Amino acid sequence: MARVAAILVSCVLLLAATSCHGLKYGYYNRRCPPAEFIVRNVVGKAIRQNPGIGAGLIRLAFHDCFVQARVSLHFPCHGTCCLHGCDASVLLDPTPANPRPEKLGPPNFPSLRGFEVIDAAKAALERVCPGKVSCADVVQFAGRDAAFFLSGYKVNYALPGGRLDGRVSLENETLAFLPPPSFNLSELVDSFRTKGLDVDDLVVLSGSHTIGRSHCSSFSDRIGTPPSDMDAGLAAVLRRQCPANPNFNNDPTVVQDIFTPNRLDNQYYKNVLRRKVLFKSDAALLTSTETARKVVENAAVRGRWERKFARAMVKMAAIEVKTAGNGEVRRNCRVVN
Ligand code: HEM
Ligand SMILES: *[C@@H]1O[C@H](CO)[C@@H](O)[C@H](O)[C@H]1NC(C)=O
Ligand SMILES: *[C@@H]1O[C@H](CO)[C@@H](O)[C@H](O)[C@H]1NC(C)=O
Repeated sequence: MARVAAILVSCVLLLAATSCHGLKYGYYNRRCPPAEFIVRNVVGKAIRQNPGIGAGLIRLAFHDCFVQARVSLHFPCHGTCCLHGCDASVLLDPTPANPRPEKLGPPNFPSLRGFEVIDAAKAALERVCPGKVSCADVVQFAGRDAAFFLSGYKVNYALPGGRLDGRVSLENETLAFLPPPSFNLSELVDSFRTKGLDVDDLVVLSGSHTIGRSHCSSFSDRIGTPPSDMDAGLAAVLRRQCPANPNFNNDPTVVQDIFTPNRLDNQYYKNVLRRKVLFKSDAALLTSTETARKVVENAAVRGRWERKFARAMVKMAAIEVKTAGNGEVRRNCRVVN
């Protein structure tokens, strides 16, 4: 009984200190009515110039949410309420005080892109409603809007807002939390479970690899000898596009989906079934009957994946968010206030 009471009291104290209640649909309706409209316009313009940037924005939303960073290294706080998942920590530039932020981690540098679009959206927002719209929300809205445009408006969903921006960003947390392309199925499932996402979310969100590009170094072990489970024709094409031993100075990029490279659609699942995918982590979806069945379904049932994708993106955008307490609304997304 005493223990229960003690736990209750510490929970209440924790909530008071760092309350982490939910996000809200229409969060900016009163605070900054044109907020979502402004982000969508900036993203639309950027994608019309270069659809690849849209892929970058969707990946940015994922990488921000999966990397945990404490609100403050010095703030005494325990439990998941203190963790910042989707907190714009991925946007912070190096400073003398923090020379190695997330942005410089191997999963992000040099491949992560779209930062300039976030800056442009934030600048437009600051002109209209200064100090109101968090960078963490801009990142998630931008990913949502990129999905809207790249899917030909088929992926079209409402996303709640109210995330606050974190003040901590650590390179070492990128490798700890972002799954590498060499992961097998059980490693992928564990990685997603750590973030509260299930096997269905894993299969559905992996469908993002129907757009965008990859550096050769992310799959080069799958196109040489001995042959991997990759389709031999695709492996031959990739051998012509990639150096035998890619390194930082010589690491070209190739499209992820050779059929519809700029279209957010269910082609990814057809590619998985034909073994025309780049990563071991993509091919891994066929290594259990449960995930293979989901792949077949997403490939076959028209419109189903788009609906599931929207739902999973909303779920991902709520990982360890901070909506009150020790977060802030940054003025410039690249630096803490
Ligand atoms: C399941 C585990 C995942 C692994 C192992 C993985 C791995 C990767 C890798 C290695 C790249 C290529 C990076 C490069 O070399 O340039 C990539 C690209 C990409 N990923 Fe993932 N990813 C995963 C899940 C996701 C999720 C959940 C999303 C979004 C919801 C996502 C969206 C993207 C997009 C859009 C690109 C293309 C980016 C661009 O063209 O700039 N990925 N991923
Ligand atoms: C990353 O480094 C920080 C400080 O240097 C440390 O507190 C944190 O636990 C590390 N994170 C991981 C996942 O190793
Ligand atoms: C995946 O890799 C881990 C670590 O190497 C290993 O322990 C596990 O058995 C592998 N799982 C499968 C399904 O191959």
